[in-house]
Amino acid sequence: DTRDPTSLRTPIVAVLGHVDHGKTSLLDKIRGSAVIEGEAGAITQHIGATAVPLDIISTIAGDLVDPDDFDLPGLLFIDTPGHHSFTTLRSRGGALADIAILVVDVNDGFQPQTLEALEILSRSQTPFIVAANKIDTVPGWNVNEDSPINDTYEAQSDRVRSRLDEKLYEIIGNLSDEGFSADLYWRVQNFQRNVGVVPVSAMTGEGVPDLLTVMMGLSQRYMKEEMEIDVTGPGVGTVLEVKDEKGFGTTIDTVLYDGTIRADDQIVIGGKNEPIVTDVRALLQPRPLAEIRTESRFEKVDEVSAASGIKVAAPDLADAMAGAPVRVVRNRPLEDVVGEVRAEL
Ligand code: GTP
Ligand code: MG
Repeated sequence: DTRDPTSLRTPIVAVLGHVDHGKTSLLDKIRGSAVIEGEAGAITQHIGATAVPLDIISTIAGDLVDPDDFDLPGLLFIDTPGHHSFTTLRSRGGALADIAILVVDVNDGFQPQTLEALEILSRSQTPFIVAANKIDTVPGWNVNEDSPINDTYEAQSDRVRSRLDEKLYEIIGNLSDEGFSADLYWRVQNFQRNVGVVPVSAMTGEGVPDLLTVMMGLSQRYMKEEMEIDVTGPGVGTVLEVKDEKGFGTTIDTVLYDGTIRADDQIVIGGKNEPIVTDVRALLQPRPLAEIRTESRFEKVDEVSAASGIKVAAPDLADAMAGAPVRVVRNRPLEDVVGEVRAEL
């Protein structure tokens, strides 16, 4: 293996929020912008996640992001469902994330799953920002596609501006009621102490350059040391979902946050009663540009490195559990790895 064994991994960003507040649209917008820039191939679709490399982030963010200021490879976004029945999945995604985006519809404001997401984030001590979404729905809004927030804000009438301000301050007030000191992101100095609110539209792309800039800045400044991993070491991840997949039997959708997993690895997974010891049969990725939640045709890969989302097919996965740890054994005593997995259950 010729890779530098210690390199920086991609930070994992969970996108959380109430149903229909625009989480998926925001990721679609980021993917779509890359397609327009002729860079569709640069964004890779993972199982349950989307990887956006630094140069694409910098292209979308325009003047706001200079790639020379960063040495993290990009961001890995995990979409989560807002529907109330998916608490477990949201909580897995939130706990797994290094940083998060809480999406709040500016018209709808705080809703039950917004509050639930805040609880998940504070329990797991995950730094986050709030995307105040759908600013284009403010009556009288003058659309400036894909523009940074400052430029489009300047282009609005006084009346539209004060309507938007009102909605943004309502969100800041709601955050404060929940015990979070928050402000508009350009006024925030310390993103660990204060929550930055970024006005955006997933529909028009307004504010998306700002959102990506703030996320890169947050990861670079506060997460860099935690991102130093041994990319060639045995993989460590978390099961997001256990799914039956035609032709593959039971599979586990896994987010790998450390090391690598290979198609010939032995792995240990947290099970309902006991850790499960099994051999990888196939590592599966969605085909390029395919819609992850509906895609049923996969591509087999030999190896993946953190951070990434991967579907693992293996025998004996029936008792695997969402949220359980996954560890690659590779050249270590099996009992040690089983012990590590048991300790995490
Ligand atoms: P769940 O996954 O069901 O929790 O919803 P979601 O948060 O992923 O919301 P989704 O992206 O599916 O958007 C819900 C609806 O809001 C869709 O009809 C979107 O077109 C619309 N929408 C999302 N963002 C915007 C926005 O910025 N402006 C406007 N006008 N509509 C938006
Ligand atoms: Mg969605």
